[in-house]
Amino acid sequence: MNVLSLESLLDQSWAILQNLRSAKTSERTITLATVDPRGQPQVCMVVLRSIERDNNMLEFHTDADSLKCASLAKEPKAQILIWRPNVSVQLRISVEIDLYSDDKSRKLWAKVPGPSQISYGKSPPTGHLISAPFDYKNMGSIDKFAVAECAIRKIDFLSLEHTHHRAQFLQIDDWAGQWVSP
Ligand SMILES: Cc1cc2nc3c(=O)[nH]c(=O)nc-3n(C[C@H](O)[C@H](O)[C@H](O)COP(=O)(O)O)c2cc1C
Repeated sequence: MNVLSLESLLDQSWAILQNLRSAKTSERTITLATVDPRGQPQVCMVVLRSIERDNNMLEFHTDADSLKCASLAKEPKAQILIWRPNVSVQLRISVEIDLYSDDKSRKLWAKVPGPSQISYGKSPPTGHLISAPFDYKNMGSIDKFAVAECAIRKIDFLSLEHTHHRAQFLQIDDWAGQWVSP
């Protein structure tokens, strides 16, 4: 049996993120959990837009009118869930999210493909009740394009392959890692 090291599990976590980032857009989804202003957990899919291991950052894009933006303005802590069935690994990544819609996001906007630009900004705004399914307009609005920078605080790695094993890596421990009973 291979001897497992914490270091190799951390590397594997980042390799999973890298592979995900390199996949085509429809397969690049991650599950994001936030807590809304009423204290209700909210879970949704978002597309992983970029990763930076040096800074321990992940990025996704969203509509500034979305509930998740209001939620993150009040509670910036969130969790990202990833399951990779090909390697039987679950990653639960605890993050703190900084949202910005400013000059920096405006520079990124130029790189967003046209069909994706259309989805930012709706009239009435996303989440508002409408009287028929298509009673809304896509605004393609740069002002509603929000970039979410996710600073990683913790990675919980669970492998269900052969023998089960689990480890947690914390930023405050400089990612040294600890084994956890699965
Ligand atoms: C496959 C898939 C990918 C999605 N990607 C994004 C995304 O990158 N950004 C985003 O804001 N919403 C994305 N959504 C929609 C969200 O899951 C969610 O329904 C929407 O953002 C409304 O969220 P809210 O409750 O925060 O307003 C995606 C949904 C699916 C099914």
